[in-house]
Amino acid sequence: MVTYVDAAEAPLKNTGQIRLYGPEDFAGMKKAGQLTARCLDALADIVQPGVTTQEIDDFVYKFGLDHGALPATLNYRGYTKSSCTSINHVVCHGIPNTKPLRDGDIVNIDVTYILDGWHGDSSRMYPVGQINRKAERLMQVTYESLMLGIEAAKPGNTTGDIGAAIQTFVEGHRYSVVRDFCGHGVGRLFHDTPNILHYGRPGEGVELKPGMIFTIEPMVNTGRPQVKVLSDGWTAVTRDRSLSAQYEHSIGITPDGCEIFTLSPGGLHTPGLTLE
Ligand code: MF3
Ligand code: CO
Ligand code: CO
Repeated sequence: MVTYVDAAEAPLKNTGQIRLYGPEDFAGMKKAGQLTARCLDALADIVQPGVTTQEIDDFVYKFGLDHGALPATLNYRGYTKSSCTSINHVVCHGIPNTKPLRDGDIVNIDVTYILDGWHGDSSRMYPVGQINRKAERLMQVTYESLMLGIEAAKPGNTTGDIGAAIQTFVEGHRYSVVRDFCGHGVGRLFHDTPNILHYGRPGEGVELKPGMIFTIEPMVNTGRPQVKVLSDGWTAVTRDRSLSAQYEHSIGITPDGCEIFTLSPGGLHTPGLTLE
């Protein structure tokens, strides 16, 4: 049985209990989330053929520090970069390096800023130069699956309703949902309970209550769902080397739905894509 503790009284570790946050906490998450979203907006003009993912990471680091925030991934469990940059068949946790991006690549950039103790976790896909139809369609379906998951994120529904909404839509387009990584509680902790699976059945899992804060971050493959982690210990790739995409938002459950903390202030929710 899951019980709920007031966030202010809860110890700062993952206790397995789902924290419920109040209006001031939501305001803190909004501030952190909006800083992350502004960084992701700025990256739309920076991602170009020839740019290295290390240069992107340098921008993310500096943008954070310039605005009083620290990248949460920096020295997180041995990770040494300020962002994750996942190109083409890389599913997630790609490590920025000095290899230039190439025309036709698609890259996910995942940023989490800690601002006043709150974690704003979000990622978007960026096309590099001119991309093909297949890549564009994958990105569209992945983004729409995230937004369908967010629509299901409301009191009375369960975490299973979120996963089912995402999985049904993705598989309806003959793509697959990655099982090995999931969304997560977020707030004063980077990765907290509950896990938010991007697949499942309606009504399963944990009931959603106002005050819950978590991410939804579906990873979608054009091929099989299986992934493997490379010998660097981080980079997750599709086993069949098929193309993969991901978008992520941090959200909080409200009495009548949810608030998206990481919405793009510049309308750049899907950089380089036109959604019908
Ligand atoms: N930002 C990722 C997430 O969405 C986590 C990255 S952890 C790292 O949960 F160590 F790989 F950076
Ligand atoms: Co996340
Ligand atoms: Co993230």
